[in-house]
Amino acid sequence: MKKFVPFVLLALLLVSGAEAENQLVYRSDFSTSEDGWYARSAGGAAVSLTADDSLLIEGRTSDWNSPGRNFDLQPGQEYQLSVQVRQTEAGEARFMISIAHSVGGVESYENLGAAMAKKGEWTTVNGQYTAGAFDQYVLYVETTGAAALSFEIKDFTVTQRVIEENADPLPALKDIYAEKFDFGTAVTYYEAINKQRMDFYATQFNIFTPGNELKPDSVLDIKESKKLAAGDETAVAVHFDAAKPLLDYAKEHGLKVHGHVLVWHQQTPDAFFREGYSTSKPYVTREVMLARLENYIKAVMAYMEENYPGVIVSWDVLNEAVDDGAAKLRSSKWLTIVGEDYPARAFEYARKYAPEGTLLFYNDYNTALEPKQTGIVNLLKDLIAEGNIDGYGFQMHHDLAFPGNEQIEKSLQRIAGLGLQLRVSELDVTVPDHTDDTLQRQAKKYAAIMKMLDEYTDRLLAVQVWGVTDDLSWRAPKYPLLFDKDFQPKPAFWAVADPASVEEK
Ligand code: XIL
Repeated sequence: MKKFVPFVLLALLLVSGAEAENQLVYRSDFSTSEDGWYARSAGGAAVSLTADDSLLIEGRTSDWNSPGRNFDLQPGQEYQLSVQVRQTEAGEARFMISIAHSVGGVESYENLGAAMAKKGEWTTVNGQYTAGAFDQYVLYVETTGAAALSFEIKDFTVTQRVIEENADPLPALKDIYAEKFDFGTAVTYYEAINKQRMDFYATQFNIFTPGNELKPDSVLDIKESKKLAAGDETAVAVHFDAAKPLLDYAKEHGLKVHGHVLVWHQQTPDAFFREGYSTSKPYVTREVMLARLENYIKAVMAYMEENYPGVIVSWDVLNEAVDDGAAKLRSSKWLTIVGEDYPARAFEYARKYAPEGTLLFYNDYNTALEPKQTGIVNLLKDLIAEGNIDGYGFQMHHDLAFPGNEQIEKSLQRIAGLGLQLRVSELDVTVPDHTDDTLQRQAKKYAAIMKMLDEYTDRLLAVQVWGVTDDLSWRAPKYPLLFDKDFQPKPAFWAVADPASVEEK
């Protein structure tokens, strides 16, 4: 097959049982034509076929002068690349597989792999590329420090990591729990731009949280804020480039989004807290910081209301504000600069600017542990008294061995007793390996958690896993999720789908 295999064809191959994880989607063939390859140059360089069925480039005057070819890549998809190169003019030379991609006519470049080729020897150059969201992709083979070198290429191959379709359709978690709560997952940018992935996710989940893309380090536009600060220190500029693909997908398909997160001590640029948004200047005053916080929340809410009305149903207003080792607020720039009432102010502003009906959450981890649990309860009580909080999100980043089920149960009881709405916002369960036995034990832990949650369906709005396939998890080395890297459901998936089927030991 010479040309890029269209996706539909690939899908058919899969359904008919093709196993290969890495599917060949292109191999160059220079036996009869240039196969779509051309010389990238400002004039001068030219490609031609050789008697050896390779492609020769001559007349180069710059390293980027290269054989190149347009490819129809799928955003978010992972590709493995490989090519054979040979040169006969230098002792050795360095070759790279590179890509020129463009969106809206603006071209940018990445180097995807490199190798040294000795004189006269066919040498393999390998590369890897996860496609960004562009409308044109040109793969090419260039040199470094060998601008005038002529060289040949052959066997340029592109393979793709494909999502294997499951032979039998899986039961859908969102349908199983439809009467009780929403079932969701975190999704990051590269997943969100991958339509094939998203279409699969949408079969299982009805609510999505951007894994990173609505955090202040993705949203704050420091460069623009800096400019604005020259006239008004309290002004804040925001942008949503990273979050757009997920928001667009959700809007288009009628799916819900849970926003994460407005105020956090992590993934928030230090410049946000500084005069003139400059990391070399002193921290701003409490008054300026509060005004920035208000303006930030206002800008985020206004953008969402204008562009994605109704899509974001709830927000983590505040994340992880409680100390790990004592029942108090953790030390952070928010605490130092604003003071003890920064959580209350964040909820006040969120309530002020969020569209009516948007639910506002405090979100934290290790809820099952003391003294942190008491710190969380104290904070929640204060926030409840202020009247601007709707619920608590249990992250539930758990491990097979920890925390114990009784501890988790107790924390659910205690927090539920406060009268708030609840979410499980970031569920995953790490395990040390992926032997059958371990994966069964992981399934048991998931089942136990789901059984506990069943007691709280009157106030539980959503259960969300923190990712779908193990390979893309933030804790990937510990296989924490419901699907393996090839999209096959793990025992944990079946346990969540039907907790009653899993026996307690
Ligand atoms: C994690 C993301 O999954 C990672 O990609 C990132 O590098 C770090 O943050 N608690 C939270 C989430 O509230 O925002 C964190 O997400 C995981 C822990």
